[in-house]
Amino acid sequence: MTAHVSVLLKEVIELLDPKRGEIMIDGTAGGGGHARELAKIAGPEGRLLIVDWDKKAVEKLKDEFKNQKNLLIVHGNYADLPEIMEKYDFFKSDGLLLDLGFSSDQLEGSGQGFSFRSDEPLIMTYDEKMQPLSDFLKKASIEELAEIINIYGEERYAKKIAEAIFRNKHQISTSRQLAEIIRQATPKSYEYGRIHPATRTFQAFRIYLNKELENLEKVLGSLEKILKIGGRVVVISFHSLEDRIVKNSFRKLAKAGRLKILTKKPITASLEEIKKNPRSRSAKLRAAIIF
Ligand SMILES: C[S@@+](CC[C@H](N)C(=O)[O-])C[C@H]1O[C@@H](n2cnc3c(N)ncnc32)[C@H](O)[C@@H]1O
Repeated sequence: MTAHVSVLLKEVIELLDPKRGEIMIDGTAGGGGHARELAKIAGPEGRLLIVDWDKKAVEKLKDEFKNQKNLLIVHGNYADLPEIMEKYDFFKSDGLLLDLGFSSDQLEGSGQGFSFRSDEPLIMTYDEKMQPLSDFLKKASIEELAEIINIYGEERYAKKIAEAIFRNKHQISTSRQLAEIIRQATPKSYEYGRIHPATRTFQAFRIYLNKELENLEKVLGSLEKILKIGGRVVVISFHSLEDRIVKNSFRKLAKAGRLKILTKKPITASLEEIKKNPRSRSAKLRAAIIF
């Protein structure tokens, strides 16, 4: 199991600008790297709501923070933050952090089929109510598969991969088998490229099944219910479609005079950070203040 390294930690703290005694929300707590820092700065007088929809991650955080009564740790979807806040009587906040996607720990050892390196059942979702990948692959047409792989994976061999998955759908039951079918469907040169030939397709299925873009749109549409006036939001995305949603949502709210954008251009990781943590290479951070 790899240890997840928090991305753009210094920049998150600078832009969220938490202060002692403030109320903060981490909507994607994961391994708790960012949350730990926020909790430290807010101190015992502050309050922190920590959310993640990975049960295992939430259990670990509950255990770690069991003596910190000012932290509320909830298993849930950040898209439902207004409902979660109402249920637990949590106040409108001074800051919201969303560090999107999945942590390296989840991708490598979840048992959910996120990783093409291990032989795991094809689930790829955390919410039990959501459709697992194995069911989806049995039902999907070639066109549907190709569209998803193309749009969410930005994969240039989407059609070839879709055809191969469709042809073999009754033989695929694990993540490694799926990765092998994808590898065989792509040219040899692809295999020796910077990333594994299955990377984009796995990412596409994960985004689609977990409704990651819809969740992001929903939470950005309810910022006024989550944040106080003057509250700050910081979003780190790892995919151009996610970044576009953040950029457009912020612009729309700014135009309506309801938000001020703090990052004209997205902030990216320094070369030094990328060297230490290659995952930070594709991170884009945008921040804003609610009026
Ligand atoms: C990149 S990791 C966060 C890492 C964390 N900031 C840290 O420093 O350790 C993203 C986390 O978001 C969670 N996640 C993804 N979509 C979510 C959603 N819709 N609601 C709640 N959590 C979600 C994943 O389970 C994962 O733990």
